[in-house]
Amino acid sequence: PPEAAQDGESADTLPALRKAAEACRRCPLWEPATQMVFGEGPADARMMMVGEQPGDQEDLAGKPFVGPAGQMLNRAIEEAGIDRSVVYVTNAVKHFKFEPRGKRRIHAKPDLVEIDACSVWLEEERRLVRPSLLVMLGATAARAVLGRTVTIGRERSKPIALPDRFGSNAQGLVTVHPSYLLRIPDAETKQREYAAFVADLKQARELLR
Ligand code: URA
Repeated sequence: PPEAAQDGESADTLPALRKAAEACRRCPLWEPATQMVFGEGPADARMMMVGEQPGDQEDLAGKPFVGPAGQMLNRAIEEAGIDRSVVYVTNAVKHFKFEPRGKRRIHAKPDLVEIDACSVWLEEERRLVRPSLLVMLGATAARAVLGRTVTIGRERSKPIALPDRFGSNAQGLVTVHPSYLLRIPDAETKQREYAAFVADLKQARELLR
């Protein structure tokens, strides 16, 4: 029945889960968006990275982290010695939330109701992929994974033991969102924050050794 499919509970593969998520009407964000943007990566990935929501380019491409934030993320991932193709990359919220301004679509922050409505899909991705490590990129991802409000400055860079939900002892690591780095106007600060981001990703790599 469509109801069960919407819950994602009958999905036992990622393609089936994606199909169910495409039909999601749990919050109103599906309507103005071009498409649902599902996670991408190996079904047996040991590392999962969680972003906020698709941006303008992701909404059009149907893939996570392909726009400016994605380029920043790719650069940092590579510098940290991680191969992106072994990482399962996804978002807390799977539709692009924006405000139209003329011909442009301006990113709008997802609110708690939307994050929590969408968290069923992330839960199901976690259940199917069972990563050993979840890297949370920014406060929205941390909220979605940890179920509480997180202050990045206080909780970043420290491994967190996640509750044993799916018979896997996964760890979590909170860091900044790559878009945050893009918004820093001062070059020196930006360089320093970028280095700290790469250091977090290196730590993520080490945690999986
Ligand atoms: N920002 C995100 O959090 N996710 C994307 O997929 C793109 C930009």
